Amino acid sequence: MKPPFIITVDGPAASGKGTIANRLGALYGVPVLDSGLLYRAVGVLTRRAGKDLDSEQDAGGVAMTLTAAMLDDPEFRTRGAGECASRVAVHSAVRLALRELQLAFARTPQGAVLDGRDMGTVICPEAPAKLYVTATPEVRAERRWKQLKGQGEEVSLADVLEDIRRRDERDGSRADSPMVAAADAVLLDTTEMTIEQATDAARRTVEAARARW
Ligand code: DC
Repeated sequence: MKPPFIITVDGPAASGKGTIANRLGALYGVPVLDSGLLYRAVGVLTRRAGKDLDSEQDAGGVAMTLTAAMLDDPEFRTRGAGECASRVAVHSAVRLALRELQLAFARTPQGAVLDGRDMGTVICPEAPAKLYVTATPEVRAERRWKQLKGQGEEVSLADVLEDIRRRDERDGSRADSPMVAAADAVLLDTTEMTIEQATDAARRTVEAARARW
């Protein structure tokens, strides 16, 4: 029997990967894992417990207690949560603790879409369809700024750009599972694309991978 058809969608914040992942999931009728939400939850819960985000022991301890039932909290979607997530995501103990939750998700027989930074490189290197979605920091900052404003967060575009650059740098340079395109990922630069165009390009890549599978 063939293994489940897994689609990985990696890339930096606000590249469009979340929307693309959700639309692919809806199109193929398969579940979508937002792995960033796991790191956001660990970051926020570590901070909420008065613990140190930069301590591997503190954040790793929180990550070991995380369950799927704990993920439904609007605070995890805030700007501050993204920064906390990026900080706890450098710790190997955190990544290891979250690994099993992610692998369990990928084992669903009907297949899945995995959205993150290291889905195609570390969590599911054998996935038959891999995308790496990017856009310039300026365009991503503008998208994220609009989204945050829509959620009622008061923040300047310059500050959001600064956040994005800092996170790109931290996520891309950490020793364990850095944000990087898998050698066999198809690169999708969405800088000049509408979300419809980007989803369409992603769908064509997935269809080509499915035909080869
Ligand atoms: O995709 P996001 O913005 O929700 O992710 C928040 C942070 O979590 C991101 O800056 C780095 C970390 N992360 C990670 O290290 N590995 C993943 N697979 C997903 C997210």
